[in-house]
Amino acid sequence: MNPIKHLSCCVALLCALCAQAETMTGKNGMVASRSDMAAEVGSKILQQGGNAVDAAVATAFALAVVYPSAGNLGGGGFMMISLADGRVFAQDNREKAPAAAKRDMFLDKNGNVDRNLTVNSLQASGVPGTVAGLLDALTRYGTMTRQQVLAPAIQLASKGFALNDDLAGQFAENLEGFRPYPASLAKFTHDGTPYKAGDMWVQTDLAATLQLIADQGRDGFYKGTVAEQIVKEMQRNNGLISLADLEQYQPIWREPVHGTYHGNDIWSMPPPSSGGILLVQILNMLEPYNIGKLGFGSAATGHLMIEAQRRAYADRAEYLGDPDFVKVPAAKMIAKDYARQRFSDFDAQKATDSASIGAGKWPEESPQTTHFSVVDKAGNAVAMTTTLNRSYGNRIVVPGLGFLMNNEMDDFSSKPNTPNSYGLIGRDANEIQPGKRMLSSMAPTIVTRDGKLVMVTGSPGGSTIINTVLEVVVNVLDHGMNADKAVSSPRFHHQWMPDNVRYETGAFTEDAVTELKKMGHKGLNGSGFGIGDANTIVKKDGVLEGVSDPRNVGGVAGY
Ligand code: DON
Repeated sequence: MNPIKHLSCCVALLCALCAQAETMTGKNGMVASRSDMAAEVGSKILQQGGNAVDAAVATAFALAVVYPSAGNLGGGGFMMISLADGRVFAQDNREKAPAAAKRDMFLDKNGNVDRNLTVNSLQASGVPGTVAGLLDALTRYGTMTRQQVLAPAIQLASKGFALNDDLAGQFAENLEGFRPYPASLAKFTHDGTPYKAGDMWVQTDLAATLQLIADQGRDGFYKGTVAEQIVKEMQRNNGLISLADLEQYQPIWREPVHGTYHGNDIWSMPPPSSGGILLVQILNMLEPYNIGKLGFGSAATGHLMIEAQRRAYADRAEYLGDPDFVKVPAAKMIAKDYARQRFSDFDAQKATDSASIGAGKWPEESPQTTHFSVVDKAGNAVAMTTTLNRSYGNRIVVPGLGFLMNNEMDDFSSKPNTPNSYGLIGRDANEIQPGKRMLSSMAPTIVTRDGKLVMVTGSPGGSTIINTVLEVVVNVLDHGMNADKAVSSPRFHHQWMPDNVRYETGAFTEDAVTELKKMGHKGLNGSGFGIGDANTIVKKDGVLEGVSDPRNVGGVAGY
């Protein structure tokens, strides 16, 4: 066990009943998360008789307290739910552009995208969806009360918990980003001095906000003092979110993206995320080949998967956006026939040149989004990915409320063919429009076979999310790996533009790298570990194996 994890588990207030580790097995219930404390919260809810949805909602609220770079009240995300009776649901609690947003709002006087504005400003904030989404999921498919599922988060915020190295280090790293905002500085420093590992961290304002949500439901956030305070902060510095934007926000239940792969059912997130469509499209292109036989790390597997990734990401830029605003050819994109046609120019010996299909630039590296997976005793499962977009969002804590605002507006295409902060380009389908949801790559995914759960996965990582999920799925379904191996195995990524293969050392054998270069693949400068954070649960022969991605600290808790 990681000693940092061990320390934070021992000092956490809520871990009395729960085991936690990076990987564990159990028969009854499991939560895998980027935060050991959040995993413990979810596992305890399961042990108290809650179902996977109760546990997911409790875990998500806890993440807003114990993992503030991505766990949130001021952001949004996507939730996949698969019930033991075979029903599958996809909930979109993605942020929306405020009603006052304009297509060219991020262009400077020369017509160039002002990257500082799309990321480090209140204009960068979309109308938050997380609170509405979590409460709606709880009402529809949970069994516990708001008070029950919010109690652990409120306790962690009001009583505090000892910071581990990971969190104390993150706060110190982001200090300059917090400095312009007194409420951010007050939350993330001890009177301006960085916190140290082991210091108790109490979040009184956040506890009060969570209590209002527990008492009043969505009105405790989208109306009254919290809403008024958010709007006051917007008005302080050119933010666009209004009281009407907040009051009108609704999560949307959408038809899940469904595909099949070698007899397994793949369930994932539809637009406004590109995650599910690209995942299924890539799997469709791969299905005619025997990846298990071609082998993990081989040039043949690498070449095949990179070429499939390249084509799917090129389609993303052209076709995908919020389906409530643009016509998305979803059914066509996930059809097996289309995959065959799209992949018909695949040359087994030679890399395709992306330049023949577009232009872009490498994404900067930045956390943070977070994914967690939950399975309960009855076989219900939840995959949820949630985010503020960049690490700590725009780093602006709303004064008096204790939570950060997102900078999700950067996920729109502010200008056609101009990369966003993940190097992703887009065109009209993802242009800014009032009330529209920005295109995402988040891909919370559930795999079933003959109606029975096989795995629950997902990841942060901006543009790399889809390929991380793809590779974890392929590792389990094609390479026959267990959850631990499937998640810890090195990954690679190609996003069409820029035309480069990025990989973690070990994703390809040395011979395969040489071979891939000979075929014409570009980039291929291996680096350490760092693509994705796929907290995953695999169910095999009635046993749940949970794993928190070893690329970061985190935790699995279950029984
Ligand atoms: O929705 C998206 O695709 C992005 N806002 C996700 C950002 C992300 O994953 C950052 N984390 N590493």
